[in-house]
Amino acid sequence: MRILVASQIAPAALAALQARHDVRTAIGASEVVLAEAAADREAIVFRSGVSIGPGVLAAPHLRLLVRAGSGLDNLDLATVRERGIELIRIPGPGAQAVAELTLGLMIALARSIVLADSHMRAAHWAKSELVGYNLRGKRLGIVGLGSIGSRVAALGGAWGMRPIGVVERPSEERSRAFADQGIDLVDLDRVLAEGDFISLHVPLSDTTRGMIGAAELAKVKPGAFLVNIARGGVVDEAALFDALQPGGRLRGAALDVHVAEGEGKRSPLADLPNVVLTPHIGAQTIDAQEEIGQEVIAIIDRFDPVSAEEQMSPIHVPSHRE
Ligand code: MLT
Repeated sequence: MRILVASQIAPAALAALQARHDVRTAIGASEVVLAEAAADREAIVFRSGVSIGPGVLAAPHLRLLVRAGSGLDNLDLATVRERGIELIRIPGPGAQAVAELTLGLMIALARSIVLADSHMRAAHWAKSELVGYNLRGKRLGIVGLGSIGSRVAALGGAWGMRPIGVVERPSEERSRAFADQGIDLVDLDRVLAEGDFISLHVPLSDTTRGMIGAAELAKVKPGAFLVNIARGGVVDEAALFDALQPGGRLRGAALDVHVAEGEGKRSPLADLPNVVLTPHIGAQTIDAQEEIGQEVIAIIDRFDPVSAEEQMSPIHVPSHRE
């Protein structure tokens, strides 16, 4: 199969694909470069950080898109549907990694770990300035209780936090199912008003873009912490900047996702001492990426069993009549 790998995947998975298929790589390239690289390809493997727009999807032989992760905000879904291109996501393996990082960011905020580290490096013994908070007993407000959000609730619950959450389509049945997991299903206003830690786990779509803006931040419990590990566009960064000022509603925020991402981009929040910033590394663990890589191989092999079989069968020696 002719494949374009447009994002970093596990090296072993890339090597396995290269052994069995005709693979071209254009990791993190611009949309224009990707469109050129995709022109004769049948499949594209991609993650976040690249834009798979109409130019890329115009490739005439393209029949398979493998999203080596979860989010689809960087893909022109209308064109995918219109052209009947098969799209397969691999959301499972990254979910645990993202949930674990969420807990890590909450602890980093509660205990000012990043600030403490920078003081130590400057030979400043800041012990008396760095009095933090336990997670135990705190209200954990989760916006989006999908596979990541519900794992965050379970991890937080195991630390003695009290999870509440909101979903896009609530129902009695879902409410009972979440109650069985120890999560109270409430509305967004309650998550904002009661959460000591508010954690965002919604995909970026027309309904979630800017869903946490100045009006929502004004409803937040004073002194709360916010974690955004969903997508940068879900939070209005200018409103967040204001809410993080002395006297603002938020005590701190941790952001793994940003409105502008990539090399050379500096967050507008980068000068605030009560902010922790990471470069979209939620799913970036060896464990998650190796599992995703195995799934990428399995998907491609299922889609194109002939090439996979040819490459795995013993070397064919032509007979004298061939
Ligand atoms: C995802 O949506 O799976 C994450 O953003 C991870 C990624 O693709 O880099």
